[in-house]
Amino acid sequence: MSRLADKQICLVVTGGIAAYKAPDLVRQLKAAGARVQVVMTAAAQSFVQALTFQAVSGQPVHIDLLDPTAEAAMGHIELARWADLVLVAPASADFMARVAHGLADDLATTLCLASAAPLLLAPAMNQQMWRSAATAANLELLAARGVHFCGPDSGAQACGDVGPGRMSEPAAICAAAEGLFGSNELLGLQVLITAGPTQEAIDPVRFITNRSSGKMGFAVAAAALAAGARVTLVAGPSTMAPPRGCDVINVRSAAEMHDAVLSRSANCDIFIGTAAVADYTVVEPASAKIKKSGAAMSINLVPTKDILAAVSASPERPFTVGFAAETERLEDYARTKLQSKQLDMIAANLVGMPGSGFESDDNELSVYWADGGRELGKASKSLLARWLIEVIAERYHGQAI
Ligand code: CTP
Repeated sequence: MSRLADKQICLVVTGGIAAYKAPDLVRQLKAAGARVQVVMTAAAQSFVQALTFQAVSGQPVHIDLLDPTAEAAMGHIELARWADLVLVAPASADFMARVAHGLADDLATTLCLASAAPLLLAPAMNQQMWRSAATAANLELLAARGVHFCGPDSGAQACGDVGPGRMSEPAAICAAAEGLFGSNELLGLQVLITAGPTQEAIDPVRFITNRSSGKMGFAVAAAALAAGARVTLVAGPSTMAPPRGCDVINVRSAAEMHDAVLSRSANCDIFIGTAAVADYTVVEPASAKIKKSGAAMSINLVPTKDILAAVSASPERPFTVGFAAETERLEDYARTKLQSKQLDMIAANLVGMPGSGFESDDNELSVYWADGGRELGKASKSLLARWLIEVIAERYHGQAI
């Protein structure tokens, strides 16, 4: 059975040529068992008739924010509460900008602002509009607030250009929507996750850190939540917003992260260490700003405590999963860490290459355990996080039997 069965999806259709694919999207969502209500912007009606959506969804189409008859049938706040998911396909550049800035000047934007449901956008626009600095900034703002994206794809465009900006195919959008609903694989379990970098103070204004963005750890937390777990996220400094629904403990240094984790690990079922914890910290950070003297200087560093190894060696150890970020000999080094830190599983990725790793949206993961492993391949961090959670659930339950 599809995870979309009985889910209530509000599909917002905005103005763009890709709107012609939206009726097929409604058909596919309904075939998967979802209930769909369609909202159209004024511009969308220049591309597809409301009657088409009424016919495929079997429901009246919502258009006006201030139409008393429509409000009497199902008001915009009621619609916002009804939705388990707000899906915008196609999402035009203009619509992304309006949602990014919290505008609520029509029914579609008001719905996005008024709903607590996850928001999934399938952008569609000219390649130059997609590449513009304004759209990129809006995308970043929305992603940092936990908005989900599917696509866009690259290829030939209606305007004759070639490049990124084609709306993803309806089947891919359905799969992305399905991915946002939980599988219950970790229902009732307590999962503790570390994410992001740590900062080791040199003095009150300077610190040592690394390139970790926290994206992978936050994606793993979102995937664990979607799988039904209760999630505690111990997060180092990150510019991203953590997924809604986690219990978040903000920390700065490796020592703070160690204490936050070790005081909670005995009460969790699964521990996943995705954080890029500093391996060394400053022996005695200066209490006042260090002034420059012109002479060479050195900083005295000592190793930090290994959080992952400490959790795995603790008496009431949870199912323990580590990450290995390597620049070479991936499987070799990852398996060595698996063994030396006595882990149940390790997820390994190559870093330092363009298009995957620390600051990227994509990643490439391989997962290893003592007598096996699996290549998860290259994909978005959110998709990889879901696959990783599936493997963790499989191994956890296999071990628990
Ligand atoms: N880790 C940890 N505490 C530390 C260092 C690392 O919990 N003080 C965890 C990370 O969260 C990750 C795993 O250990 O899950 C591997 O981290 P990585 O930096 O790849 O390896 P290190 O053990 O630090 O070894 P090296 O830097 O030599 O590769």
